[in-house]
Amino acid sequence: MTTRIGVIGLGAIAVEHLGAYQKNPLADLVAVCDVDVERAKARAEQFAVPKVTGDVAELLSDPDVDAVSVCVPNTLHAPIAEAALRAGKDVLVEKPMTVTVAEAERLVRAVEETGKALQVGYVRRFAPNALVAKRFLDAGEFGDVYAARATLLRAAGNPGGWFGDVELSGGGPLIDLGVHIIDLCWYLMGMPKAVSASGATFSPLGARDNIQNLSRYRAQSAARPNTVEDYATAQIRFENGAVLNVDTSFSLHGRNEIGVRIHGDKGGAEIEPELLMVTERHDTLLHVQPQIDSLGFDFKVGFANQIDHFLRICRGEIPADATAEQGLEMARILTAIYESAERGAEVAITR
Ligand SMILES: NC(=O)c1ccc[n+]([C@@H]2O[C@H](COP(=O)([O-])OP(=O)(O)OC[C@H]3O[C@@H](n4cnc5c(N)ncnc54)[C@H](O)[C@@H]3O)[C@@H](O)[C@H]2O)c1
Repeated sequence: MTTRIGVIGLGAIAVEHLGAYQKNPLADLVAVCDVDVERAKARAEQFAVPKVTGDVAELLSDPDVDAVSVCVPNTLHAPIAEAALRAGKDVLVEKPMTVTVAEAERLVRAVEETGKALQVGYVRRFAPNALVAKRFLDAGEFGDVYAARATLLRAAGNPGGWFGDVELSGGGPLIDLGVHIIDLCWYLMGMPKAVSASGATFSPLGARDNIQNLSRYRAQSAARPNTVEDYATAQIRFENGAVLNVDTSFSLHGRNEIGVRIHGDKGGAEIEPELLMVTERHDTLLHVQPQIDSLGFDFKVGFANQIDHFLRICRGEIPADATAEQGLEMARILTAIYESAERGAEVAITR
């Protein structure tokens, strides 16, 4: 038996969801939905999906749909994901799960009350470089991880459209890019409870739409005024004493950079830009580089793995991962960073 899939929101990232479902023998694409009905029709044709609608409620009331991917702008994640759970669908919701803690708590309750699964679209967890690092971590190779550093800097990478409008995005690079790398570090740190955050945000450069001869990721929605931060930096403290430092930007006078690193008392790992493990043996420092197809983030393989993981959760074959509770912890962290940036002081994370 296949899982019958509906995809809601049919912009750039939905193409990756649709493509991965189409290739997976455990899924059948049965319905797509977008408020832009012409786009919905085009996607339906592109991926041979039989049902097309511009109305989310119509898709969710369809008994032929077992599970949905939610690929709409960030502030719409919570209401659509909750409606889907309450309509009896399993849900794969793009990151960030929600933009507020209250919404995240509602989703946790909805999962408990409906017994349906919710997976957050933390695709980087499913790429081979992260899977290998996790396997070594779980075997104790790094010991206790007490520090991590997550960096994702774009010099001119504001995607525009709804991404730049805080009313629809909930924030800028921190909530869009930071969420991926914070999650990856946090996941590889063993998901400790966050106790406080200290952050700062800056917006001197704006969306940099003037920059020419440089391609960038673009939202497929109409242009809107840019009201999000250019750059965010933060330190997150955890109950076990560990710290995570984050640096992320849409616009910055600097070079593009990605780095995801964890440091433990027995060893450490760089997951980005290339998987590299470091340790010490016989009074000698070692760099260990696994021989795998892609040492960096393999988006296509990560996406296929993420979708396959979700489908196996829908089938009850494996326990839920990237759960609503984990999305809630992320909402606590991100909102604490923004609050700290506004107040100019460290903010305690209470629960
Ligand atoms: N996992 C990743 O690497 C990754 C990458 C990019 C974006 N994303 C996430 O995916 C989501 C979508 O981003 P995108 O880049 O595809 O944006 P996009 O602007 O390209 O697409 C969003 C689509 O949602 C549609 N939409 C808006 N309101 C809707 C509604 N009420 N009902 C149905 N459809 C609606 C729009 O018409 C548009 O087609 C965001 O949450 C974003 O953070 C994830």
